[in-house]
This record gives sequence, C-alpha cells and structure tokens, in this order.
Amino acid sequence: MTSDTARRPRIVLDCDPGLDDAIAILTAAHHGDLVGITTVNGNVGIEHTTHNALITAQVADLDVEVHRGAARPLIAPTMDAARIHGATGLGDVALPQLRRSAASDDAAAFLCDTARSVDDLHLVAVGPLTNVALALRRDPDLRSRLGGLTIMGGGAHGGNVTSVAEFNVWADPEAAAIVFREAAPLTMVGLDVTHKVLLGDREVSQLRSADTPVSRFAADLLQYALDRCREFGLEAAPIHDATAVIAVTHPHLFARSSHPVAVELHGERTRGMTVTDVRPPAAIAAETAPPSHEVVWDANARAVIDLIVEASVNT
Ligand code: BDR
Ligand code: CA
Repeated sequence: MTSDTARRPRIVLDCDPGLDDAIAILTAAHHGDLVGITTVNGNVGIEHTTHNALITAQVADLDVEVHRGAARPLIAPTMDAARIHGATGLGDVALPQLRRSAASDDAAAFLCDTARSVDDLHLVAVGPLTNVALALRRDPDLRSRLGGLTIMGGGAHGGNVTSVAEFNVWADPEAAAIVFREAAPLTMVGLDVTHKVLLGDREVSQLRSADTPVSRFAADLLQYALDRCREFGLEAAPIHDATAVIAVTHPHLFARSSHPVAVELHGERTRGMTVTDVRPPAAIAAETAPPSHEVVWDANARAVIDLIVEASVNT
C-alpha cells in the first residue's frame, strides 16, 4: 500500500478488460482508493469485459463493486481488439471459476450517483467513452461534481488503429466527441506518453519471482501482451491503461500542457482523431477553439513502470 492512505485519490475505473485494463485495476487498487469499477464494450464484448473485471477483482481479493455498462457504441458499428487481447479479452491466461457477479447493469447511473456521494472522486476511463457520455447525458453537471477526469485515449501525434486514431476514441467517436466537448478539462493520457512506458522481459521476471497469485496473473497478462507486440516487431509492450492510473496517483511523474482538443467525426481518413492544437495560445482564436484539455506528453518511464510492477507484486 502507498504510504499515505488518506491522500490516495478515490478512483472509479471505467474499463474494458483487456490485458492492460486488468493490470490497471490492480494498479488502481494498490496506489489509489478504488471506489468502483464500471465496464464497457470495447476490446471485447460487454459480457467478456464484465467477466474479466470481476475475475481480476476476485484474483486480487478486492472489495469493490463492478457495474456493467454499455454493450455497444452510441452510433458507430461495434468493433473490437480481440486480435490484441484474445477472443475473450485476457489472452490465454488460465482463469479460476468466477464466484462474483455484477452489482448492477447500469454503469452510467453508478457513475452519476458516486460522483454525487463521494467527494473529490477521480473518474479514470480507459476504454471507449460510451459510459461516460451516457452519464453526461444523464447529469450534465457530472464534470463539476468530479475531482478529476482522466482518460486513456487519443494522442496528438498519431494513432494505433489508423494512422491518426487511437482505439478507445476510434471505437466510439461520437461518445468521445461528447466527452471532449462537454467535460472539460479532462486529462488525456494518449499514445504520446503511453508509447514511452514500455514493459518487457525484465518486468515479467520480476512478477514471476514474486510468485503470488496476483503477480503470476499479472505476469501471464504481460507475457501475452508482449507476445502480441513481438508479432508487430516491438520488443516491449505499452501497458496504456495502467499508465493512465499512475498519471492520477503520481501526477508529478508526468509532463503535460493545456491545448484545445476536438474529436474528428467526419474525415474520410481521420475519423476518431483527437485534433490537438499545439499553436501558441495567442495564435488561436478563442471564440472558435474547442475546449482545452490537459495533454500528457511524457513521463518518468522507469518510475512509472516500477509502480505498475509494485502494484501487482504487493496487492
Ligand atoms: C487502448 O486500447 C485498448 O486496446 C487498450 O486496452 C487501451 O485502453 C490503447 O489504444
Ligand atoms: Ca482499455
């Protein structure tokens, strides 16, 4: 547990486990005060992402509710990332029998209720933004009730599904457009930074040597992610979603600056792009600019990696 429990941020994690989402759950539970988990369709379908969130909480013996969320994007056709995460979302990792069940099937209601009842709540969304957009539709004051809103998604300089679009924004661009337009300021932990926080063989070995149920589970997840990355010629794996969690629990490890960001919905080749205006503020026409958000550019990668590993070793 991080030294000063009282100061750990209270987090609701909206996620679509997913290999890196599962590691993000472990990271949030260790370094933050994990108040709840909501699930969304994304890397795989909602039945699988909900099952995987429950299994992760069970393996780590977490006392946390899981609320099932949106089964499809607002408007876009349903796509997935099973090619990366495996058909059921957690690769080929051997899983125990599930003994838990979801607390509700209304993630958006849970997000709205929790934002009202918990002071200084940080919503960390690491899947497509469908649940967050639906929650904003239900409670237009949601953003002002939150202590912070951090997303893993987007990027100022390029994508991973198309040349310009990152998966979480690309998978439900209309939801992302609502969130970027109506929930400013958010913190965008995009590919600019997550591609600099890379875990590899050394971290798998650290997790294996700790030899606890949670560290073995995390080692298996990381190994599967690493094997997929190697198919693309990469020697290490970005664990995007856990990096976004550390940006909330250890913000001093990250470099960021504020810029107008809008989600492109109509471009023939640019749908799902987070168009980030990095011109000097004086050069930007304030009346027509989209809302400004905190764009995270860089991190103390070694420190972030060590914190991600520590979470799985000590949970
Ligand atoms: C994001 O897409 C998903 O596949 C990962 O879980 C992560 O949230 C990275 O682009
Ligand atoms: Ca994710």
